[in-house]
Order: sequence, then C-alpha cells, then structure tokens
Amino acid sequence: MKLQKYQISLVAVLITLFFYSCGDDEPENVDIEVPQPQESIDLSDFKEAETCRPCHPVHYDEWKSSMHAFAMKDPVFHAGWESEQEHRPETGERFCIQCHNPYAYVSGSEVDTTVALIAEGIGCDMCHTMVAAHEQVVTQDNVAASAEFFLNVESGIKFGEIMDPVENGFHGSMGLSMFNSSSMCLPCHDFVIRGLDAEITFTEWAGSGFAAMSIECQTCHMTDYQGYAADPSANPGVPERTVHHHDMVGVDLDLSKSLIDNPQGEAVIAMLQSAAAVDLTSEPIVENDTLHLSLTIQNLTGHSFPSGVSFARELWLEMQIFDDSQVYFSTGVLESDSSDLSSDVEVFNSVLYDEDGNAGVGVTDVISMSNNSLQTNEAKVRTFSLPLAGVGDSVSVKARLLFRSFSPSTLRDKHPDLLANLPVITVDSLSINIATP
Ligand code: HEC
Ligand code: HEC
Ligand code: HEC
Ligand code: HEC
Ligand code: HEC
Repeated sequence: MKLQKYQISLVAVLITLFFYSCGDDEPENVDIEVPQPQESIDLSDFKEAETCRPCHPVHYDEWKSSMHAFAMKDPVFHAGWESEQEHRPETGERFCIQCHNPYAYVSGSEVDTTVALIAEGIGCDMCHTMVAAHEQVVTQDNVAASAEFFLNVESGIKFGEIMDPVENGFHGSMGLSMFNSSSMCLPCHDFVIRGLDAEITFTEWAGSGFAAMSIECQTCHMTDYQGYAADPSANPGVPERTVHHHDMVGVDLDLSKSLIDNPQGEAVIAMLQSAAAVDLTSEPIVENDTLHLSLTIQNLTGHSFPSGVSFARELWLEMQIFDDSQVYFSTGVLESDSSDLSSDVEVFNSVLYDEDGNAGVGVTDVISMSNNSLQTNEAKVRTFSLPLAGVGDSVSVKARLLFRSFSPSTLRDKHPDLLANLPVITVDSLSINIATP
C-alpha cells in the first residue's frame, strides 16, 4: 500500500556530536542534523539484509542466526498469530506483527512471506533507520496495535553507534548515542495489556542497578569485540574498531533442529548458565532426625528470569537426596525432557488468568496475572525439612536449577514435532554430602 509521501529533508533537530580530528586530542563540537522521523513509509524504501551482506558479512551471518531473523519462520508464532486472527478478526492481524513484522506494520503492507523483506522478520534496516527513542506498547481491552516507530528510511542514511564512520558509496552513515542504549530495544521488548505487565523486559531492567550502572541490553546481548564494522577487503581503509555481535542470544532456539545441530545451541546454554546461581543459604542442620536445608537461588540477569514471554517458560529446582545411592527424597525430576512437571513443583514463571480465573490463557486474553519469576536482582530462599530416620551415616544432596523454553503443554497440541527437540538446560547445580549423627 503506497501512502502519501512527505518530503522531509534533513531538518531542524540539532544534536551535538563529538568528533576527533586527526592528531587532535580535543573533541571538536560539530552540529549535525538528524533526519526527522518519516511520516509515511513504503515497503520498498527498506533494503533487504541481502544487500548489506557483501560489505557486512559477519553482521549478516550473526543476524541470520538470531531470533530476529527467525521471527517469520517461527511456527509457534504463526500458530498463535492465526488463532489471534480467528479470535479478533478486526485487530488480530496487525496486533502481533507490530513487533514480529515491523516492516509490514509501518508500511501498512500485507504479510506476504514470499516477499523477501517480509520474510526477514526484523531486518537490518528496522534498527538502522531508527532516529528517535520509543515508548512501550500499551494496549487496552480492544487489543489493537499501537506501536510507534520513529524511522527515517528515505535519507538513505544508516544510523549506528560509530561517530566517525568511513564513507562508502552505498549509504550515508551517522552515529547516534541511542544505539548503545537500551532504548533501542524498548519498542518491542516492553508490552502492557489492560494495565498488566505482560512482557516488560525493558521496565524490569530500567528500575535496576544494571540501568544505574549503564549495563545496557547490548552489554549482555550484543557483546563487543575488536574487528571490522565493514569487510576490509570490500572496503579498503576501514579501521579495526570495537564492534558488536548481532546473534542476540536469549533462550529460544529453532526447535525444528536438535540442540547440538542448532547454530545457537551452545550460546544459549552459556547464556542460561550465566543467568542464576544456586547456593546453600547456610550450613545444613540435622536435628531430631530431621534435615533442615536452605537454598538460595540468585538471579544474575539484567531483568527477570524468565522474562518476556515468561508465562511460556519453565524454571524450577530439581532436588534429589541419596542415601548410599538410594534416592530417598526427590522433587522436580522429569521422566523425559518433554514430560510434564508434577503439579506440586514450584515453577518460577508468570501465570496468566482469564476472567473466570482459568490459568494458562493466551496473552491477549489476560485479565489478571501472578508472577513468580526471579525478579531483577532477586534471591529466592527455599527451605526443606526432611525426616532422616532410617538413613545411613551420610546423605548426599544434588540440586539443579533447570530451564526449558516452553512448557510441554504449550507445544503438545499444535507442535508435537517440536517437543522432541525441546531441551532441558541446567542453569546451575550443587552437590553436597551431609553427615547424619
Ligand atoms: C534489533 C536491532 C538490530 C538489528 C536487526 C541489526 N542491528 Fe546492527 N546494530 C544494532 C545496535 C543496537 C548496534 C550498536 C550496538 C552498540 O553500540 O552497543 C548495531 C551496530 C551495527 C554496526 C556498527 C558496527 C558494530 O558492530 O557495532 C553495523 C555495521 C551494523 N550494526 C550492521 C547491521 C547489519 C548489516 C544488520 C543486518 C544483517 C544489522 N546490523 C541488524 C542493532 C541492530
Ligand atoms: C558497499 C559497501 C556497503 C554496503 C552494501 C553496506 N554498507 Fe554499511 N557500511 C559500510 C562502510 C564502509 C561503513 C563504515 C565502517 C567503518 O567506518 O568502520 C558502514 C557502516 C555502517 C553502519 C554504521 C554507521 C554508524 O555511523 O554507526 C551501519 C549501521 C551500516 N553500515 C548498516 C548497513 C546496512 C543496514 C546495510 C544494508 C541495507 C549496509 N550497511 C550496506 C559499507 C557498506
Ligand atoms: C546483565 C546481563 C543482561 C542484561 C543487561 C540484559 N539481559 Fe536479557 N538476558 C540475559 C540472560 C543471562 C538471559 C537468559 C535468562 C533469562 O531468560 O532471563 C537473558 C534473556 C533475555 C530474553 C529472553 C527472556 C526469556 O526468558 O524469555 C530477552 C527477550 C532479553 N534477555 C532481552 C533483553 C533486553 C531487551 C534487555 C535490556 C532492556 C536485556 N535483555 C538486558 C542477560 C541480560
Ligand atoms: C522491531 C521489534 C524489535 C526490536 C527493536 C528489538 N527486538 Fe528483540 N525480538 C523481537 C521479537 C519479535 C523477538 C521474538 C522473535 C521470535 O522468536 O519469534 C525478539 C527476540 C529477541 C531475543 C531472543 C529472545 C529469546 O527468547 O531467545 C533477544 C535476546 C532480543 N530480541 C534482544 C533484543 C535487543 C538487545 C534489542 C535492542 C538492541 C532488540 N531485541 C530489539 C523484536 C524486537
Ligand atoms: C510489543 C511487541 C510484541 C507484540 C505485540 C507481540 N509480541 Fe510476541 N514477542 C515479542 C518479543 C520481544 C518476544 C521475545 C520475548 C522473549 O523471548 O521472552 C516475543 C516472543 C513471542 C513468542 C515466543 C517465540 C518463540 O520461541 O517461538 C511467540 C510464540 C510470540 N511472541 C507470539 C506472539 C503472538 C501470537 C502475538 C499476537 C497475539 C505476539 N507475539 C505479539 C514481542 C511482541
């Protein structure tokens, strides 16, 4: 759909950037005009990621392995999107794609996945044409799309964090300080519905010590390295500088592949292993034939764990106590990676309820919610008192904090094929021996 196009030139907004001229240590203040957000955008204004590839091959490959590039391939998304459209024919189509297919949303285009730009999901130009910070997405009972993106595509400039970019024949370049701040991620990673904090990763981060210490989303999800912003063989003269990984690892994987065949498999395991720690709160006490054991589960991520679609995730403590290799107490043990957790196991996630109080409804039907995720910086303490009568001289305790990206019930009906590849990942574990008097 081609809307009326406004001629917006480089105008008005003046910001001050620091430039270092050669051999001069003193920054020189230069006023640079940042293009205004474009009021109307045509799909064909955007450039396909494929056009960036010859000069930015590393960025391209990493992005290609990310969930941003997977957004339109994700069968779980497609099934959820279809049911939203059946459920709310007026609003369902645009509602989900405002974040999952922003090119279609901002240009008012149909979501035709045979069109390369649409199939890309969240492509390079979506982020690299942003010129101003955004607000969180807030929706009321009507569940209509309301995201606002401030983009300028028509200037042809790619915005990034490099303040002294080398010129190239394909695009103009401009550094904006916004690019190394979390506000880049806000428009899609923060979402309130009917006044409920449905998926508020940005807000969880914003109130925390991480924000105060300028540990941004990028610090953990786009780690830096020394390398090239553009391939030096295609762009002679580009300097080595600090650049950023674009695989944006989280907890999700393409579940059509097994964990070991998955390009992001190892990175997701490492990410989860950095997410929380399990430790003894104090020395275990044995008293009157009872073992008193207290464990602390400390969240180490920059937001809740799980965050975002935390209602689909499962995080729990598995504990087994052995007496001479005989298990005499256990909790949270699964028969297989895809079997259900017993209902008496405490799960650290959020739960969504409909108006009748039924748990596990889709996010757009939520009327109330409870949240038992590990909050930002939170340490949850859990104590166990277990009878020891009849055990030998000592017992050993094995505790593991386990995570899976979907509860099996989320996948069982519509995606039984994906269940087979759903991994259970150990976040942290603890093993101790306790002498019994
Ligand atoms: C979800 C948003 C997002 C997407 C999608 C994205 N980028 Fe980036 N990119 C960023 C951010 C944010 C930075 C700056 C990171 C920082 O400074 O912490 C950046 C930095 C860059 C830079 C500057 C060098 C560097 O590594 O810091 C280049 C070049 C770049 N991106 C190219 C690309 C290309 C090419 C694609 C697509 C293949 C792409 N980006 C997709 C957000 C994105
Ligand atoms: C003909 C080669 C070429 C192509 C094609 C190309 N770029 Fe670049 N790009 C460069 C060069 C050269 C730089 C500057 C690198 C430097 O200074 O280290 C650059 C820098 C950037 C930056 C950093 C800007 C800044 O100031 O922070 C971004 C972002 C970027 N490109 C995105 C893209 C995107 C998105 C595409 C595809 C739509 C693309 N580029 C296509 C050569 C290219
Ligand atoms: C201190 C490091 C750190 C910072 C800062 C951080 N993250 Fe994370 N993030 C993690 C770790 C570790 C995980 C895996 C554990 C989890 O799911 O919380 C993760 C997971 C995620 C997930 C998947 C969540 C889930 O459970 O489904 C998303 C989405 C995400 N981060 C986005 C963001 C955004 C957006 C920001 C900035 C507002 C941010 N992160 C800041 C470390 C960080
Ligand atoms: C235009 C919307 C948009 C922007 C901007 C955006 N994201 Fe995302 N992001 C998404 C969507 C949608 C997904 C989920 C895609 C899927 O799995 O289907 C996602 C997924 C992710 C994941 C993987 C989550 C998981 O569970 O594994 C991480 C990590 C992430 N984004 C980090 C970031 C960071 C960091 C930024 C800012 C630099 C950012 N995103 C900017 C929309 C966006
Ligand atoms: C405000 C932006 C936003 C809207 C609106 C939105 N999503 Fe998402 N969605 C995200 C982000 C960001 C993530 C990644 C968060 C995470 O991993 O925890 C995500 C993750 C998901 C996932 C999990 C990804 C996976 O592994 O398969 C599914 C499924 C999903 N969304 C479906 C939907 C459906 C269906 C709708 C419409 C009813 C919708 N989303 C609306 C931003 C949004």
